[in-house]
Amino acid sequence: MSQIQQDPDNTHWPDSNSEVASQDTGRLIYASICSIDGPVLDEMRRIRDHAVHNNDKFGIRVALMHRCGWFVEWIEGPPDGIRDLLARVSLDTRHRSLKVVHESVGKPRLVKPWIGSIAEPNESTGEFARRVMALHERHLKGKGFEPSSVWRSLCSPLPGHVEVAAAREGSYQRVMMMSAARTDAFSLLQWVANREKRPVVHRRFAGAARDALDVESDYLDLPDQALQGRRLIANARKGLAMGMTHAFLPDYAAVVLVMDSDAGRNEGLLERILTACQQVHHQPVIIGLGANGWFSGALRASAEARGHRWIEARTGDDAPDLSTQWWALRQALDGLAGT
Ligand SMILES: Cc1cc2nc3c(=O)[nH]c(=O)nc-3n(C[C@H](O)[C@H](O)[C@H](O)COP(=O)(O)O)c2cc1C
Repeated sequence: MSQIQQDPDNTHWPDSNSEVASQDTGRLIYASICSIDGPVLDEMRRIRDHAVHNNDKFGIRVALMHRCGWFVEWIEGPPDGIRDLLARVSLDTRHRSLKVVHESVGKPRLVKPWIGSIAEPNESTGEFARRVMALHERHLKGKGFEPSSVWRSLCSPLPGHVEVAAAREGSYQRVMMMSAARTDAFSLLQWVANREKRPVVHRRFAGAARDALDVESDYLDLPDQALQGRRLIANARKGLAMGMTHAFLPDYAAVVLVMDSDAGRNEGLLERILTACQQVHHQPVIIGLGANGWFSGALRASAEARGHRWIEARTGDDAPDLSTQWWALRQALDGLAGT
């Protein structure tokens, strides 16, 4: 195995076209019941090996998720290529009862030939199946939602019936948190979850590279906060290198940079976040979260130079504890939501 970089910073896609294409593309999402008996992770790795090889050749990009005994695959690329892949995949005995829940032509979101993920099952297989059927019916009536919304309705749903959840989806305040050092964003998310007595959902993502480390992404729903509810998503820095963060970045109202006492780390991570935003043509508000002495004119200047609003969530003179971090962040987020 080659040397694994703990904190890789390569945000370029394999085709080295460093921005999401502006031309429309074919988009399809299906859900299928997983028929694998043994460990799903091993089989996902085998699927990845075929997918990386085949998908790149045909200009296809996919995100595959396993959750609640189901697979969900989001495919983008030329419509002919999507149809061919679907025909091939339909014959695969590792899954069955394949249902298309979205098909359209529109803006691309996926930037790598393959992203795989496994999410903790936090609802029953029956509940998941009802969600799939509701989206399938909606698709057949020609009343589909956007692909990112359909994907989330299946893979990270808001509580409640799929129709209600999907309609509410767009008005949620979505906030991504990433820490300049250690796993501080995850610790903060867990602390808020304990305080608010709400569950954290854990997911693991894997990229196309054989030796890429798994990337964690946790989220927490706070339905009573902001105007229509708030979701906090903690992402690992490594997520910036494998395309997962990019796919959902356009839906975030704000990105929180959980800062560190090391100025170089703060500046380095901000630069990577700004580059990713540029690649997906999105300018969320950037919130710096940290002690007074950690802020600098350079951070503000970098964010503003790329057209982002920069907000300082200051925690005071000392290195902050989690409670002080949440107090400062909550004020900034409430201010953004107008509450
Ligand atoms: C849920 C699921 C998703 C899959 N996704 C892909 C994919 O994106 N691309 C791909 O080439 N094969 C994918 N496969 C594997 C194909 O069904 C098939 O085994 C493979 O394409 C055959 O590759 P080969 O022609 O190189 O032998 C998937 C299989 C399953 C069960």
